[in-house]
Amino acid sequence: MTAQPIISIPTKQLYYPEMASITKVEQFTEKEKWFEIEMPGGRPLGHMPGQFVQVSLFGVGEAPISITSSPTRTDKFELCVRRVGMLTEKLHQLETGAKIGIRGPYGKGFEVEAFKGKDILVIGGGIGIVPLRSLINYVIDNRKDYGRLIILYGAKDTSEFLYPDELKEWSKSSDIEYHVTVDQGSPDWNGNVGVITTLIPALDLDLENTITAVVGPPVMYKFVLMTLKTKKIPEINIYMSLERRMKCGVGKCGHCQINYSYVCQEGPVYHYPVLKTLQEAI
Ligand SMILES: Cc1cc2nc3c(=O)[nH]c(=O)nc-3n(C[C@H](O)[C@H](O)[C@H](O)COP(=O)(O)OP(=O)(O)OC[C@H]3O[C@@H](n4cnc5c(N)ncnc54)[C@H](O)[C@@H]3O)c2cc1C
Ligand code: FES
Repeated sequence: MTAQPIISIPTKQLYYPEMASITKVEQFTEKEKWFEIEMPGGRPLGHMPGQFVQVSLFGVGEAPISITSSPTRTDKFELCVRRVGMLTEKLHQLETGAKIGIRGPYGKGFEVEAFKGKDILVIGGGIGIVPLRSLINYVIDNRKDYGRLIILYGAKDTSEFLYPDELKEWSKSSDIEYHVTVDQGSPDWNGNVGVITTLIPALDLDLENTITAVVGPPVMYKFVLMTLKTKKIPEINIYMSLERRMKCGVGKCGHCQINYSYVCQEGPVYHYPVLKTLQEAI
């Protein structure tokens, strides 16, 4: 019997980094930088919202990073990277024209086909807005296929806002219900102050027809889930993306394992009814 590939992408792309070019860089905050990247020959990456790539810098290492752009926008793709350690520090030093290794796209993203016809409620805390932005722009670019688009975004304070231009566009759009909050207020902020869960109770939702996509820091999940439960959002309508330490990204090394599930393959986006069967996932 012939062995089946784990992911239906060419073997070369599955295991070997391809040298891609950084075509634009923008510093969003003190710690977060945005990169636009072009694959060899300008070919599209072929990703879907919620998937990630393995970024490699030779002599430094590899790191999984979510794809923040929607495949509907451009043949290039975008990453937003928080500087936390060895690889991300070196990546932040790179400028336009630099080359980086890219493997992927990997993992399961959001089920955008299954979401068609539904209202989409996006809940993004901190850097969790990075993969959600791909979903948001996918929905915006296929607007007639989806119902309401409701975005809840929370940051520690205004200095941590990512995608400042797009946040302004979302807040002005008559087609998007955008609600933002900061944990700590400041004199220049006259919006909502409080954790992201404070935005949920006031929402008027069609509960059976609303898909909820949640991404944020681990501490956020428990409280968001409790609030969604109080709001009576059916579990079957909830999707969450997990972050776990990864090495191979393709189901070989076991570093990302939670119980019977490899996050690099069955995640990072999980349907909540599956996720809740994985002990210690949240
Ligand atoms: C599916 C997935 C998507 C991700 N998407 C993004 C993204 O879009 N943008 C982004 O900035 N980061 C993202 N990350 C996290 C990113 O992979 C890590 O920050 C990166 O690997 C750190 O590498 P480093 O060499 O700079 O840090 P290291 O030197 O390896 O570590 C620095 C510190 O960060 C901690 N750390 C490293 N990796 C992780 C991790 N995966 N989870 C928790 N703590 C970690 C270490 O324990 C250490 O304290 C994602 C992770 C996963 C699994
Ligand atoms: S990262 Fe190796 S199995 Fe998931």
